Amino acid sequence: MNLKIAALAGDGIGPEVILQAKKALYAIGVVFDHEFVFEDALIGSIAIEKTGNPLPEQTLNLCLNTDAVLFGAVDDTVSSTKLRPIQGLLNLRQALGLYANIRPVKPYADLLDLSPLKRKIIENTDFIIFREISGGSYFSEKKSNETGTFASDLCEYSEEEIIRISHLAFRTAQKRNKKLTLVDKANILETSRLWRKVVTELAEGYPDVILEFLLADAAAMQIIINPKQFDVILTENLFGDILSDEASVITGAIGLLPSASLGSSSALFEPVHGSFPEGKNKNIANPIASILSAAMLLEHFGLHAESLKVFEAVQKAIELNVVTADLNPYSKFGTNEVGDFIANYILSKDDLYFK
Ligand code: IPM
Ligand code: MN
Repeated sequence: MNLKIAALAGDGIGPEVILQAKKALYAIGVVFDHEFVFEDALIGSIAIEKTGNPLPEQTLNLCLNTDAVLFGAVDDTVSSTKLRPIQGLLNLRQALGLYANIRPVKPYADLLDLSPLKRKIIENTDFIIFREISGGSYFSEKKSNETGTFASDLCEYSEEEIIRISHLAFRTAQKRNKKLTLVDKANILETSRLWRKVVTELAEGYPDVILEFLLADAAAMQIIINPKQFDVILTENLFGDILSDEASVITGAIGLLPSASLGSSSALFEPVHGSFPEGKNKNIANPIASILSAAMLLEHFGLHAESLKVFEAVQKAIELNVVTADLNPYSKFGTNEVGDFIANYILSKDDLYFK
């Protein structure tokens, strides 16, 4: 298969972790005979610095004309020009029509003790969050007055926006443990009541899937006290943002979590973590979330064996303790060494690397 992939490394540790994801994909290409062509483009702070725009037109055009986007991270700051680097990512999500952000949460057997949660609570947890990312308070009308004494963020959803992501979530639940939990605040919010109505109607088309409803505040608690109960969680933009960071606690480190953002004709793959500016160029960032985002990219294109191979390599790195300091404080390995190990394992060169 030939794939053209836009690589948007962005800020902070973005470039370092994207490099490791590229190495893994390159190795997969060699072993499975695929051609992955990367084209780099600017986004975030670095794009503001160089072009005055967090999402330069050139970057957007590239992303609109590639098969997939591999995304690193963007800074969470306000630049001297008052432009926000994260606006680059938000604009990109919107311009590419990305609406479903998919975040799997599954701890590794070897890392259960990393989590501040008890082993018996998190062991065998395996769920996926389907977070809507094109609507809600992120993108509805925003207002503030000139004196800085009033601000408003509207939260709007249309039936159509709810339907498209819900189908994806139901279909995924059908292939898994057949349970879908819709998380909302239907006791308070009109948008949540709309979500419940639409999702309940759609459920008739998926009779094998059990549909449950959970209020977002209760969900925040249940994710911590009984995460095993979940299979697929479906929720709107802001709740999904908050709950997916919370869920990362189950895996022990946010540096392990990948995500995929899908639209009708575009797909973007990015780690759940941010740009970690303090870690920039120190070779300490965990590249696994970015590498697993590349695995999700492979899966998206139906390259199942290839994606499994990446997971297997990551699993091996964890098993052999070839991990960064966030996973093992005594580790002598950095971002590059972990990335090399994973790429070499894929190339069956692991024995050459660590003898
Ligand atoms: C995420 C991030 C983004 C979000 C920011 C960087 C815009 O926190 O992907 O979870 O809030 O969606
Ligand atoms: Mn977030």
